[in-house]
Amino acid sequence: MTTTVATPDKPWGGRFTEPTDEFVESFTASVSFDQRLAGHDIDGSIAHARMLHTIGILSQQDVDAIVNGLEEIRAEILRDDFNWSIALEDVHMNIEARLVDRIGEAGKRLHTGRSRNDQVATDMRLFVREQLDFIVERIVLLETALVNLAEQEAETIMPGFTHLQVAQPITFGHHMMAWYEMLERDKQRFVDCRKRINQMPLGAAALAGTSYPIDRQFTAQLLGFDNPASNSLDAVSDRDFTIEFTAAASLVMTHLSRFSEELVLWSSTQFGFIELPDAFCTGSSIMPQKKNPDVPELVRGKTGRVYGHLIALLTLMKSQPLAYNKDNQEDKEPLFDTIDTVLNSLHAFGSMMPHLQPNRENMFQAAQQGFSTATDLADYLVRKGVAFRDAHEIVGQAVRIAIDSNRGLADLTLHELQELSSDITDDVFSILTVEGSVASRNHFGGTAPEQVRLAVYNAKQRMRGI
Ligand code: ARG
Repeated sequence: MTTTVATPDKPWGGRFTEPTDEFVESFTASVSFDQRLAGHDIDGSIAHARMLHTIGILSQQDVDAIVNGLEEIRAEILRDDFNWSIALEDVHMNIEARLVDRIGEAGKRLHTGRSRNDQVATDMRLFVREQLDFIVERIVLLETALVNLAEQEAETIMPGFTHLQVAQPITFGHHMMAWYEMLERDKQRFVDCRKRINQMPLGAAALAGTSYPIDRQFTAQLLGFDNPASNSLDAVSDRDFTIEFTAAASLVMTHLSRFSEELVLWSSTQFGFIELPDAFCTGSSIMPQKKNPDVPELVRGKTGRVYGHLIALLTLMKSQPLAYNKDNQEDKEPLFDTIDTVLNSLHAFGSMMPHLQPNRENMFQAAQQGFSTATDLADYLVRKGVAFRDAHEIVGQAVRIAIDSNRGLADLTLHELQELSSDITDDVFSILTVEGSVASRNHFGGTAPEQVRLAVYNAKQRMRGI
């Protein structure tokens, strides 16, 4: 008796008596997006085949045919000469079917001791590991731009803000180094997350492991994994690493979004603190005078989609029983988009920052306004023996006089100041200047130019891995 297979094009068709519904076929297929994993899928298959050979499952002839066949398929894909088929569902079955096409029998032996469940989990880890390294490289490029700018502008004075009200004078270099610190934490988060990504699912097979005497250490070593994953059920079902990665991505986007917000404000006519390079701005089709900070605005806007992907991935996992479920196919698009968004945003910032032009004069003028040295006057009085609360009160009165007469604190006469406190002498004027104010904050982590240079030095050492 001969049996007809209802789904001749499906590698799993044997037990089916009805062809797949056309809509279901496209609804369940992932090949339109998971073809992005092709290179890693081929790497994983080659390592698996070599391991099968070392344990005597594949002959030398078979493994050679498989490796050559897969390399030829890689070349076909790279030159966009590969016919992706929805009927073959995903990247894994497309490549496997093509291999069988090319090399026949030997191709059918590749899937021994393996399942698409451990295969896809492995591909995803290899892919994320690679992209994570690109992200870290781009963070370092942006850090370098910030550190260079900080060094160049170590003495540039600008107003520091709290509540977006002028608070105290700071140096522009110090502000750049604050951004650097945020990025450095972001980088470390990625580097740390990499350790948990770098565990190999292969060998877990569908969920329970395999009855072949596989050598998982060998495969792990070929693929550059630190270890084989310790539990087969966990190995095929775990997508924590995508969540952790996307959480780290969300934080770097939070930081880029905050930088963006400041760049948008600073480049406005009202602030006039910086000039963004023309090449990174666009004009208005109706208002000829406009130069819009589109790049930072877009980065700020794109932050939202990465947060969305984080929530999507968390929600994807929250109700899944062990082990693999098809739900996991939904991890790819959010993750891919997260990676693209972070890489592009970092690239935009990394190439824009070296061309940013600080407007020193405008920042200096702005720092003079808003009585930004009021705290320095209070500290001065404390050094003369006045209690801080009393000093606060005295300075408040000085600010009032300055407001009423439309002057800055440094414009008050010695006589006017002495009427408020007899402890004030003519040395007060050196601390009422913004230069004096920043220079006096000369401790580790402070805004003084000397400390900015030290922070720049430390950052450069750190970046060189010293
Ligand atoms: N395309 C699938 C995914 O991304 C591959 C694994 C399919 N496994 C299965 N048992 N249907 O998750």
